[in-house]
Amino acid sequence: MANSKYEYVKSFEVEDEVMFPNVIVVRIQGRNFRGFADAHEFEKPNDERALNLMNSCATSVLEDYHDIVFSYGFSDEYSFVFKKESNFYKRRASKILSLIVSSFTSVYVTKWKEYFPEMELRFPPSFQARVIVCASLEVLQAYLSWRQNDCHIKNQYYTCLWKLIKSGKTEVEAQEILKGTQKQEKHELLFQQFGINYKTIPNIFRQGSCVLKIEVEDIVKYANNGNPIKRVRRKVIMVHSGNIASRSFWNSHSCLLKELGSFAEDINKVKPEFVKSFQFEQKLMPFTWIVVRIDGCHFHRFSEVHEFEKPNDGQALNLMNSCAVAVLEEFRDVVFSYGVSDEYSFVLRKDSQFCQRLASCIVSLIVSFFSSMYAMKWREFFPQKELKCSPYFDGRAVCYPSKEIIRDYLAWRQVDCHINNQYNTCFWMLVKSGKTKREAQEYLKGTQAQEKNELLLQHFSIDYQTLPVMFRHGSSVFWDKVAARTHFGYIDDFTLKILELSH
Ligand code: GTP
Ligand code: MG
Repeated sequence: MANSKYEYVKSFEVEDEVMFPNVIVVRIQGRNFRGFADAHEFEKPNDERALNLMNSCATSVLEDYHDIVFSYGFSDEYSFVFKKESNFYKRRASKILSLIVSSFTSVYVTKWKEYFPEMELRFPPSFQARVIVCASLEVLQAYLSWRQNDCHIKNQYYTCLWKLIKSGKTEVEAQEILKGTQKQEKHELLFQQFGINYKTIPNIFRQGSCVLKIEVEDIVKYANNGNPIKRVRRKVIMVHSGNIASRSFWNSHSCLLKELGSFAEDINKVKPEFVKSFQFEQKLMPFTWIVVRIDGCHFHRFSEVHEFEKPNDGQALNLMNSCAVAVLEEFRDVVFSYGVSDEYSFVLRKDSQFCQRLASCIVSLIVSFFSSMYAMKWREFFPQKELKCSPYFDGRAVCYPSKEIIRDYLAWRQVDCHINNQYNTCFWMLVKSGKTKREAQEYLKGTQAQEKNELLLQHFSIDYQTLPVMFRHGSSVFWDKVAARTHFGYIDDFTLKILELSH
């Protein structure tokens, strides 16, 4: 293979498999959601429509991912629990968290109009995500209890805070009044000053929401003797519960018992060492170039559904490029990016402290923001085409220690672009000229670059070198320091550009 010279760069990719028997939980959390809520005039402290939209996105995630059996969310966060035996994407943490956060974000954008029909999306919503590894069911139970307790505490605090502000206090005064107050005192404040019985506040605000799978029996048909023939089916439902970590709630759902197990005892207090483990995260190696590569998930199908031109759809590629420009404008530590087909690689400066170099944070923010942009900008690039399904991407972060290796990484991706594009151009020309896909495949088997060029020239009068450079070489986005704007173009020497731009 022509690209074998560069393939060694793959060895820098590290394993991040979550081992059995750990239970995988993915938690997503809004990025700058306070600003997002203000910009979209969310009601304070809770906006029911915004919460319903979050629940609807979670429902869609549970419907799309068979291995997720339970989820819990409040405010701008949601936690997704995978079944114990899950082998989803070989249990690779980065793959899993990026797919979930990307799907969630993309659905959030596409469903926005349903929940906020009178309000334009003013800027892209995005979420960060991480994997929480629960070593036992007892740990999972503690995790859920910890999250729901946070919901209780925050909701009670913000209910009081906004009541005080609405009654004329400044935000600072309201904060002072609430400083150091206990649960009971807040209850009394609400009751005595505002006539509010906290318990009568809607469950969705006080308790958060659960989206989970239950088992239902359907009658599929009737036997000759008239007896119904039943089939057990899983269905996604949304419920509220005052204590999701209690035995009475958990153990009453057969699907949870089957896929995760039962809670042995009720818990009163979450052990601090458990909470510490929920917060633990690995950092990426310092003083290395971080590359975040994202790749469209099932884009083979996505491109069929949306009738992309074959082998290259200029508009689809321009949409990818436009999202990459937005990423560079949003995340200033990204100094260079290179894209081809449904993938994009973002290079962060060597001394970047973005997200304190936490891999899951960096990957999820970039992939989520990119997905959000892709869904938001769709209309601009395809005004005649409806977005029929949510686009989503996976992502990973890899560290490269020297400029030679980062150059080889980019060369590896660009050689890949060249090989694939040349093959695909020949393949689709043969198919368009009447060959079946199998015949075209057979025809091209074992052919070298030169032979492919000749085939194109002799049979189809196409000089490969004259095809659009975007198709042949891929696209790059980087900052033009002089003009202080993002530059978009096609260049040969990546290393020079990166070094020039990051110092
Ligand atoms: P996963 O990434 O493993 O989920 O699979 P995938 O279906 O996304 O395939 P992969 O990433 O390996 O390859 C990208 C696929 O996207 C190509 O094989 C094409 O089918 C499709 N694609 C990307 N860009 C274009 C385009 O410009 N035109 C057309 N027609 N298809 C494209
Ligand atoms: Mg793909």
